[in-house]
Amino acid sequence: MTIFRQLYDPPSRAFTYLVADDVSNSAVVIDPEEGTVLPLLGLIGELDLQLAYVLCTHVHAGTTPAAVRVRERTQARIVAGADAPIDADVRVSDGDSIAFGGEAIRVLETPGHTAADVSYLWRDRVFSGDALLIRGCGRTDLPGGDAGALFESITQRLLVLPGDTLLFPGHETHHRSVSTIAEERDYNACVAGRSRDEFITQRCTR
Ligand SMILES: [Fe+2]
Repeated sequence: MTIFRQLYDPPSRAFTYLVADDVSNSAVVIDPEEGTVLPLLGLIGELDLQLAYVLCTHVHAGTTPAAVRVRERTQARIVAGADAPIDADVRVSDGDSIAFGGEAIRVLETPGHTAADVSYLWRDRVFSGDALLIRGCGRTDLPGGDAGALFESITQRLLVLPGDTLLFPGHETHHRSVSTIAEERDYNACVAGRSRDEFITQRCTR
């Protein structure tokens, strides 16, 4: 058995995810936000979980990520991409695996929103951060952004996953909290039917 929870932070429209192996009670959290830190810590306490890792899909330069607050409160180790601007305990690259209890999460490098974005694949679901959103995608005009790289990440790394893979993004769009890879292949107007050049020149507004 496993535990999977999605927490939502209305001001930032951001999602945080908690995944746990309920045999060992070992857990990971993906992308804590300022507004989800306290609810997250409450849930971890209620369910008597041990937080092993805080997984960051990406970090924006100049911010103090909520991941650091979670580490201070739990002793969990921070996991982030190779060049992510955070004091990470574990640096991951494509194909790496993060084990907790009897579970494992696989790392996919999906740069473009920032230079060091990664997505995390666990069982039948992928956590895509701000790379691929439901019917949208992350912006590329922030430091480290690269529209060509993001197009390749979305089309060659994420949309090639099995169609029934559940997509859990880093931000809410269109009042939806989950999609599938098959749906996004067909209906994500940022990339469906678009060339790399079109994606770069016609910025997608979600
Ligand atoms: Fe972002």
